[in-house]
Amino acid sequence: MTEAAANQSSPLAPDWLAVPEDLNALHQPLWAAGVGRNDDGELAVDGIPVSLLKEQFGTPLFVMSEPDFRARARDFKDAFDAAFADICGGVDVYYAGKAFLCTAVASWVADEGLRLDTCSGGELAVAARAGVEGAKLSLHGNNKSDAEISRALDLKLGRIVVDSLDELERVAKIASGRGETAKVLLRLTPGVHAHTHEFIATAHEDQKFGLSMAEDSTDQAGLSAAEEAVAAATSYSSVELLGLHCHIGSQIFEPDGFAVAAEKLLNFLAAMQTKYSVVLPELDLGGGYGIAYTPVDTPRPAAEIAVAMAAVVRSTCAELGIASPRISIEPGRAIVGSSTFTLYEVGTLKTVRVDAADAEDGRTDDKNVTHPRRYVSVDGGMSDNARPVLYDADYSAILASRTSVASAQLSRVVGKHCESGDIVVRDVYLPEDVAAGDLLAVPGTGAYCWALSSNYNYLARPGVVAVRDGSARLIVRGETEEDLLNRDMGV
Ligand code: LLP
Repeated sequence: MTEAAANQSSPLAPDWLAVPEDLNALHQPLWAAGVGRNDDGELAVDGIPVSLLKEQFGTPLFVMSEPDFRARARDFKDAFDAAFADICGGVDVYYAGKAFLCTAVASWVADEGLRLDTCSGGELAVAARAGVEGAKLSLHGNNKSDAEISRALDLKLGRIVVDSLDELERVAKIASGRGETAKVLLRLTPGVHAHTHEFIATAHEDQKFGLSMAEDSTDQAGLSAAEEAVAAATSYSSVELLGLHCHIGSQIFEPDGFAVAAEKLLNFLAAMQTKYSVVLPELDLGGGYGIAYTPVDTPRPAAEIAVAMAAVVRSTCAELGIASPRISIEPGRAIVGSSTFTLYEVGTLKTVRVDAADAEDGRTDDKNVTHPRRYVSVDGGMSDNARPVLYDADYSAILASRTSVASAQLSRVVGKHCESGDIVVRDVYLPEDVAAGDLLAVPGTGAYCWALSSNYNYLARPGVVAVRDGSARLIVRGETEEDLLNRDMGV
């Protein structure tokens, strides 16, 4: 037992945060395979120590394990293929590029037998540059421009996921003008909304995405926007209606929400097939599979979710007396999230004393008894990880450049931006002797961190390094000051 283990937890810490038994140990589910401490106690990826990564590429830096990304991609494909083999011959897995996309990642996705879900002209451009076949691409978005729709047709996209009646009409018109047929899925809102452990099956539909399945969602009594879209899509000769789509939320741990959505969409699909004498051969159940950001997160393995979803699809199709459509899914976070950590260098440190009764979450404590909270500033922040600010997302961090036997101190890892909400890790126990020049690593930053990064305060966005077979290469170069000034047109 290290000295750290003897430490008491801080009254300022949230209930879920325990003092780690060993501050130097990695909680493995948060990290990519191949990440661990080397004989010198330094964090290393596939044998490459973080000090070397810093020397070569600087900090902040996104460090991604290519084998880990590929393994998670394969895991989803294999697990869903196996669970659905007897139902619809397997599942098409579309990696959701919005989580993180560059040409290297797009090509790994294609190598591993997955397809790619894009949601803008820019993401399509990356896919095209990576040479991903158009037939293996999908295009999402609630406000696709005519140019994006045309580009999708140029690339002969496997599917355009149409989000509204307006858009359906525009897609039909653009395709017709080109003498082509657009392959289309309709995105429906099944009234299921899920987040982490919970889901609500009667969520109201007051949001921008998709076609409502509620029967009062059009002027015509009993007709939903979803049905109106099916009727319209089947009437356009320039549209090939392949099927239906839904996406119920993100960072979901339990399969129940997916199962309820699948059941609802299959019922609707069966009703539409009968009423409009069409066959809808495809059903996409979206993404949203959760990952662990802190030791208390316990997501389910892909295989477990796949089996639960397959059971519902199998029994619902049997009850309805229909052949199952070909199922597809769109995981983003669950493939890329844990493949990556962010490496930061520590700068300024300060300790404040806080009365727990005055702390943000109003914990009860003896009045006038204060407790220390250490602020550990790093050389990035909300510009490379906006998720804590945007979603109150929790992360974890460890001292990466060395081990320490110092005692645990409740710490808050903050960035260098001119904003007091610029928090990277709200609550974490770090060794008391963390000092300027130390390197910290924050795991689980592969999804929606680089993707949401910004140049706030004129910080250059970090690069992304991929590690494989003991060597590291930049897959996205970090920005330089010159990049930042390049678009400024001058006086
Ligand atoms: N498919 C559709 C239609 C989506 O809208 C999304 C995510 C996905 C798939 C992939 O979801 P995933 O498997 O990665 O959860 N920025 C937020 C997440 C926004 C998700 C948007 N849509 C965050 O950082 O938590």
